[in-house]
Amino acid sequence: MILPGATLGVLGGGQLGRMFTMAAHTLGYRVVVLDPDPHSPAGSIADQHIEGDWHDHASLQMLGEECAAVTTEFENVPAESLEYLSRFCIVRPDARAVSISQDRIREKTFLREHGIPTAPFAAIEEEEDLEAAWRTLMPPLLLKTARLGYDGKGQRMVENLAQAREAFEAFGRKPCVLEEKVPLTTEVSVVLARTHDGQCALYPVGENHHERGILDTTIVPARVDARIEREAMDAAVAIAHALNYCGVLAVEFFVTRDGELLANEMAPRPHNSGHYTLDACITSQFEQQ
Ligand SMILES: Nc1ncnc2c1ncn2[C@@H]1O[C@H](COP(=O)(O)OP(=O)(O)O)[C@@H](O)[C@H]1O
Ligand SMILES: [Mg+2]
Repeated sequence: MILPGATLGVLGGGQLGRMFTMAAHTLGYRVVVLDPDPHSPAGSIADQHIEGDWHDHASLQMLGEECAAVTTEFENVPAESLEYLSRFCIVRPDARAVSISQDRIREKTFLREHGIPTAPFAAIEEEEDLEAAWRTLMPPLLLKTARLGYDGKGQRMVENLAQAREAFEAFGRKPCVLEEKVPLTTEVSVVLARTHDGQCALYPVGENHHERGILDTTIVPARVDARIEREAMDAAVAIAHALNYCGVLAVEFFVTRDGELLANEMAPRPHNSGHYTLDACITSQFEQQ
């Protein structure tokens, strides 16, 4: 156990990093933030701000030597950086969990391999893959970049193969997933915390409403039937165990018109659908982090 008084680090100085920093301060920890932006929201309230890039080994080493443990506020930190950092301190979540969640191909393949239903999808590594994928999937389809998408960015609805090719080109021919657009009744998410030795604590399932791809409202508890609620919690716990996860994990799900629960994506960090925990719960998702 790392007790208050110790120093914790966070990779990334954005708003989630800032909320982590505030929670850590309340609990009595020192916080070091690594972020290149001299005015980053978390860096400006941290005890120490290392103005460096998360690719830069010298900055990572400085962070690792300062801290008992480091976490991350976003999934796009290179797994290699987390691996390197782990030479100097505890890193949670670890490189493997982050590298799976930051790449939609790895993420959806991982979910499928662990028996967690997803929307039907195919991995598109190069343009030639589109044609074969098109034959196995039912339009309308969404083409999503495998990496760096958020708030609906890096995804486009495609109605025929020509449009899919156009979108692939527009995304810079980077790896993508091609995925069936499923008829949704609602979307739900589970935010949980898991200890290094496998104990899980879950927040209630949240019901999420998006406006133009961006989360607009979360209603808790979700107004879904008990079976969906149970399935979502069980799937999220199964994912956390399969990743041997340590820290806060969020999993987003679709609930389809046929009453199916499909896992959509996971975030290896606190989630915007869990912000209510700051006011409504005994411990917030940032304290759990
Ligand atoms: N296969 C799909 N079927 C129906 N709606 C989808 C599908 N994929 C994404 N969406 C909609 O777009 C939103 C954002 O997509 P998501 O894959 O979660 O990417 P992001 O990383 O931008 O959150 C989802 O919350 C959902 O409302
Ligand atoms: Mg999402």
